[in-house]
Amino acid sequence: MSVRPLLTMGDERLLQTAVPVTDFSSVELSELIQDMHDTMQAHDGAGLAAPQIGAALRVVIFGGSDNVRYPERPEVPYTVLINPHIDVLDSTQELGWEGCLSLPGLRGEVPRFTTIRYSGFTADGTPLEREAHGFHARVVQHEVDHLDGLLYPLRMPDMSRFGFEHALDL
Ligand code: NI
Repeated sequence: MSVRPLLTMGDERLLQTAVPVTDFSSVELSELIQDMHDTMQAHDGAGLAAPQIGAALRVVIFGGSDNVRYPERPEVPYTVLINPHIDVLDSTQELGWEGCLSLPGLRGEVPRFTTIRYSGFTADGTPLEREAHGFHARVVQHEVDHLDGLLYPLRMPDMSRFGFEHALDL
């Protein structure tokens, strides 16, 4: 296990489009997923995308029961999602506050679709498909954006709703 350094906003590797995983049996992939898990846990994150630790692969992880950064949030199952695809099931969007381990200390209000279906593959290559609502749907959209080089401030319609967590009145 190892906790890897997190890339932060401004690093051009966070702006790249990640490439799909083709070999689900490689040692490199299982080590990457383990390192992502350890890194997310070490920082109490709600999710993490592979590009955030410098791996340009379409791998995201999210959820877990021991999240202390968002204790008020409904539980999202711990999920490894590879080569994800999102279908928007309802065009309704909702504003909500987000943070990101690549923007430490900051929060911003971001519109996200409230109801989606996401699909992809688990760590061993098994297909996975789920419907998600609310915070669960928000986390998935946030993480999948990382695979296309999008950090949440790029989704924000109102930059006056962006700032340091300790200074914002949330
Ligand atoms: Ni993020």
